[in-house]
This record gives sequence, C-alpha cells and structure tokens, in this order.
Amino acid sequence: MKSRVSRLILSMMPGCGLIALGVFGLGSPVLANGVAEEAASANKPYTVECERNEEGRRVSCTVDQDTFVGWRTFGGNCAQCHGQDAVGSSFAPNLIRSMDNMTEEQFYAVLENGQAGGQMPGFAENPNVWRHKERLYGYLRARADGELIGGRPARFDQ
Ligand code: HEC
Repeated sequence: MKSRVSRLILSMMPGCGLIALGVFGLGSPVLANGVAEEAASANKPYTVECERNEEGRRVSCTVDQDTFVGWRTFGGNCAQCHGQDAVGSSFAPNLIRSMDNMTEEQFYAVLENGQAGGQMPGFAENPNVWRHKERLYGYLRARADGELIGGRPARFDQ
C-alpha cells in the first residue's frame, strides 16, 4: 500500500523523483533498493563473485565463461602493452581508467581501428581478438568497476 502511494507521488512529480525517493524510500527500503540493484546487475556485462578476507578485501574471484575468455584474450594480446591486469605501462595507458571515459561503442571503435598512428594497433583483422570483443569489454568493465581483482580468475562450473 505504502509503495503504491509513493509511486503515485513519484509519477505526479517527475522532476522531484530523487527527493521523493529519499523521503518515501525510507518507508519502503525493499522497493527502492531492490529495483536499483536489479537494474544495476542487468546492465553488467559480466558475472563476478569474490571471496573476501576479514578486512573485506577481495582475495579470489570466480567469473563466468565469457569474462574468463576476456581475461585470457587480454593476457594474450593486450597485456604486453597495457600491462598485466590492464593497469598500464610506460608505453600504453591504464585501461581500468580509460574504460570510465569511453562508451562500449567507442571501445569497439578503438579496438577495430587502432589509435595514435598505429601505436595502438587495430584488431579488426585478428579473429582471436575481434570475435571476443564483447568478452574483452566485459572483462575490462569488471576490472574498471573494481569487481574483479588482478590475476587469473577461477571459472564457475559449467
Ligand atoms: C603494441 C602495443 C599495444 C597493444 C598490443 C594494444 N594496445 Fe591498446 N593502446 C596502445 C597505446 C600506445 C595506446 C594509446 C594510444 C593513444 O595515445 O592514443 C592504446 C590505447 C588503447 C585504448 C584507448 C585508451 C584511451 O584512454 O584512449 C584502448 C581501449 C585499448 N588501447 C585497448 C586495447 C586492447 C583491448 C588491446 C588488446 C586486444 C590492446 N589495446 C592492445 C598500445 C597497445
């Protein structure tokens, strides 16, 4: 009942959605948080679950098959310039940071055509990379989102 009331109020004042959520969200935490969390996980192009130590730090992570292939593809084709785990090198940028400044489409465009006069090579003709472009993107997003630690991840049972 309460949730229907707050939704009604939300729809009556679209510009004040945030304020309304703040006020009425308190009364219905399950509705407000549940919806937000579901939307967030639906947008993630990866599945990662990590074990944490007592301080809450991730110590080992398990990923879905696609993210694992992304990790492997990165290690075989990108890490020699962008560094192990995508943290960058003296030669090529830290991709964990780059990912937050580019859309998925921009990422594919750089991967396809390269950049900076060939220092970043294009990979459109490299089937080992190009057919895994979504998996590479998922792996790098998981790294950029801080959800996947460096090193070889484990894989969920298939
Ligand atoms: C031969 C070295 C080299 C390899 C191999 C390489 N890159 Fe790059 N990459 C670079 C350099 C250098 C740049 C920076 C280019 C510039 O300054 O515009 C770059 C830039 C990028 C950018 C844009 C970053 C930004 O902030 O603009 C992305 C994304 C990227 N690389 C992804 C990849 C991926 C994914 C792979 C593996 C499939 C890969 N690179 C392999 C050298 C490399």
